[in-house]
Amino acid sequence: MTQQNLISISNLSKYYELGNVPICALDNVSFTVDPGEVVFIMGPSGSGKTTLINLIGGIDHPSDGSIEILGENIAHYSDKKLTLYRKKRLAFVFQFYSLIPTLTARENVELTLELTHRKRREISRIAEEHLTLVGLEKRMDNFPSQLSGGERQRVAIARALAKNPDILLVDEPTGQLDQKTGNKIVELIRKIAKEKNITTLLVTHDQELIRFADRIITLRSGQIVTDELNTLVTLTVNNRREQYAADI
Ligand SMILES: Nc1ncnc2c1ncn2[C@@H]1O[C@H](COP(=O)(O)OP(=O)(O)OP(=O)(O)O)[C@@H](O)[C@H]1O
Ligand SMILES: [Mg+2]
Repeated sequence: MTQQNLISISNLSKYYELGNVPICALDNVSFTVDPGEVVFIMGPSGSGKTTLINLIGGIDHPSDGSIEILGENIAHYSDKKLTLYRKKRLAFVFQFYSLIPTLTARENVELTLELTHRKRREISRIAEEHLTLVGLEKRMDNFPSQLSGGERQRVAIARALAKNPDILLVDEPTGQLDQKTGNKIVELIRKIAKEKNITTLLVTHDQELIRFADRIITLRSGQIVTDELNTLVTLTVNNRREQYAADI
């Protein structure tokens, strides 16, 4: 692993036993991710996207291969060590928001921060800062049931980012949302990830969202079939560089 790679996956496989039939969910997958990269994981249903995210997220154990995060192989971590790793380095955003319905937006974000042993006032400040970052400064004291789908997902994003993670794992964040709201959510995730240099792996089916990726990895039957830089983004960066060069 070079110094640059934040995530380095080598020959990663995952088999499930269903009855007596083994199912290969992930088949010898290898790739690396640089710090701050926004990588989309795409591919048909059942191709292994969630399995991959769950393995990197330490929610599940691999059958084979290694998952190095900042030089440490988490593949053989005990459940206790994995819990610590998740707490310290990771944040998740899921399709179904997974907010606690009896807590307000503010309290949902604060709850995550309470696990970090900060002072009450500090927790409150960080929660407000992140809810403001996602444009919910006026809805902080609403319960999830009083918010739209897009607003709930923004609370989930605020909650994830308030942890200040090294790695953000996002699984189908727009599955419950209409196209326009979904686009806005993914644009927001990209914007904040770039501002805060948070390495992001985002699973989606939606081709329209590709423009928000630095790179797209496509899985089929548990294998990587393509791993490509997003030329749309690269072009924009190059254009900006050219523009900058012309300006000076
Ligand atoms: N706990 C499990 N037990 C048995 N098989 C599983 C389990 N979890 C996933 N699988 C199988 O592993 C394969 C990959 O599943 P995975 O959930 O990673 O797919 P996915 O690409 O996320 O699909 P989708 O787009 O539908 O969410 C599928 O064939 C699935 O049925
Ligand atoms: Mg899935």
